[in-house]
Amino acid sequence: MDHLQQLVEQAIADFGAASDANSLEQAKARYLGKSGSLTDLLKGLGKMDPDARREAGAAINRAKVAVEQALEARRDALREAALAEQLAAEALDVTLPGRGQGSGGLHPVTRTLGRIEQLFASIGFKVADGPEIEEDWYNFTALNTPENHPARSMHDTFYLQDAPGVLLRTHTSPVQVRYMREHVALHEGDEVMPEIRIIAPGRVYRVDYDATHSPMFHQIEGLWVGERVSFADLKGVIAEFLRRFFETDALQVRFRPSFFPFTEPSAEIDFAFMSGPNKGKWLEIAGCGVVHPNVLRNGGINPDRYTGFAFGMGLDRLTMLRYGVDDLRLFFENDLRFLSQFR
Ligand code: PHE
Repeated sequence: MDHLQQLVEQAIADFGAASDANSLEQAKARYLGKSGSLTDLLKGLGKMDPDARREAGAAINRAKVAVEQALEARRDALREAALAEQLAAEALDVTLPGRGQGSGGLHPVTRTLGRIEQLFASIGFKVADGPEIEEDWYNFTALNTPENHPARSMHDTFYLQDAPGVLLRTHTSPVQVRYMREHVALHEGDEVMPEIRIIAPGRVYRVDYDATHSPMFHQIEGLWVGERVSFADLKGVIAEFLRRFFETDALQVRFRPSFFPFTEPSAEIDFAFMSGPNKGKWLEIAGCGVVHPNVLRNGGINPDRYTGFAFGMGLDRLTMLRYGVDDLRLFFENDLRFLSQFR
């Protein structure tokens, strides 16, 4: 039965050479198919005499079993190889670091504002706001600013081309009069008008551009109106605010006489740190004063009965000092290398 042995070995070799399921099935057909060589041998048994047939039949069947086993083994091997290949192709390296997600953060000016609002809220100030596109009347006239005041010139103020009497507000002070009028209307007929105590943060616009001036910048207006509100209250509020904002008592505050049409008397507020890199340097931080009687009148408030103070602080300036930033323009360029330092 050398011949059968050879046939089995050839089949094993053919199966081994089949590199995929398809060619394996073709190889199988050559041995076990309808006209495969083993099938032919089995068919030939009929022509043999009984003794020879029994012997040959048994040998052929052994060969057939061997071929079938080899076929099965090769099928398994191919299936495993295919699976291994698929696993390798779809492999996920779970040890790779993730791509991560950039987390956003608040802009430093926004952070500063949040802090200031909190500090003023703790002494009873509400937050108010007004439009950035403002009427000339609120921005200037109601604030006792004469027709010929230089701040009203095109050189300093952005006017809207096709809307006479409308401009980009040059300060947050117009909110003073807007709020007074709302407040008075709300408390009409009350025997005593409840105190007004607000801060009004927001964007303001001027024709200006260099390291310390941007055409758009942020201010915070403050206004406190009531019976017997005085300059002394203003000094107390501002000094306390600055100490709490900068988290130090080692800080001096001075009120330098100044002029604004809407306050009388008026002052610039300067302060100086008593230690640190800016030690002893007077830094200008706000304009302020006692609200002018004409402004109270324009707000519908009787200046013989009520008084008040107001201030306007530079929010960007406070942010620069708090974080040690020396160029205002950095706040408005949106460079993430700068902004992400404040996350
Ligand atoms: N509005 C003034 C400015 O922009 C600041 C100010 C506000 C002064 C309130 C007095 C009172 O310079």
